[in-house]
Amino acid sequence: MQKRFPPFAHFQGGEPVERWQTLLKTQWAGRPQVICEETLPSTNTCLKEAAKGGAPAGTVCLAKTQTAGKGRLGRSWFSPPGRGLWVSVLAKPQMPMECWPHLTLAAALAMAQAVEKQGLKPAIKWPNDLVLEGKKICGILLEMGPDFVVIGTGLNLRPGSYPEELRGKAGSLEEILKAPVDEDIILADYLYELEKALAALEKEGLQGIRADYEQRSCTLGREVVVSGGMEARGWAEALDESGALILKLANGETRRVLAGDVSVRGVMGYAE
Ligand code: BTN
Repeated sequence: MQKRFPPFAHFQGGEPVERWQTLLKTQWAGRPQVICEETLPSTNTCLKEAAKGGAPAGTVCLAKTQTAGKGRLGRSWFSPPGRGLWVSVLAKPQMPMECWPHLTLAAALAMAQAVEKQGLKPAIKWPNDLVLEGKKICGILLEMGPDFVVIGTGLNLRPGSYPEELRGKAGSLEEILKAPVDEDIILADYLYELEKALAALEKEGLQGIRADYEQRSCTLGREVVVSGGMEARGWAEALDESGALILKLANGETRRVLAGDVSVRGVMGYAE
């Protein structure tokens, strides 16, 4: 079996070509089509194009490195070769479009569960960052098309130098575990948990994943500062039925936060 053969591996149906495919326990995620490349500008962008060209739900796009990896809120995502799992999954959710943003919470939960199988306990910083020992190890970027959603996940696996703005804020699994991790197992576990979480959302809405998500949250019940769009400071009280964060301000008012950057006291360097 070949491993990420360069320069280009597009695979449709039939026998697995990648080791992680042999580890899959999914019904559809990672099954119909796989796009693996050494280098891509962004796995999300590549998969959006594939979706527009008719790629089926469950198609997975992987790259060893991204030259223009995208983060939330228009930021870039640092994706050096071999240092992380840079993966996008195509979904065509069977639920009202206004509920599609819930997939971002489902993806964070799924990756948290996959990382837990490595013996670690990451927390979820609303809406979808995974945090370990106060450092961000994973981010998720959801992009939507007219009839599809691309769920892009960047999981830092290995340490190395970071750009100035990430120093002290970004961490990686191997840095924390002080042992090598098997990314094929993590990917297969992530796809399995993602499929389960999406099925729960389709069946019961947010309620289907709420308890599992909230149990891992490092945001709820803490003092937070919101920036990037809406500016607010308060106590993160709850998630409402749409997945928005409900803040209680010092003056007793409540605010509903739909998007933005949330800093949690004591997490990722915020200790004001
Ligand atoms: C964030 O800002 O926290 C979200 C980061 C999402 C990064 C992943 S890496 C794979 C996929 N392709 C991209 O261009 N971005 C996402």
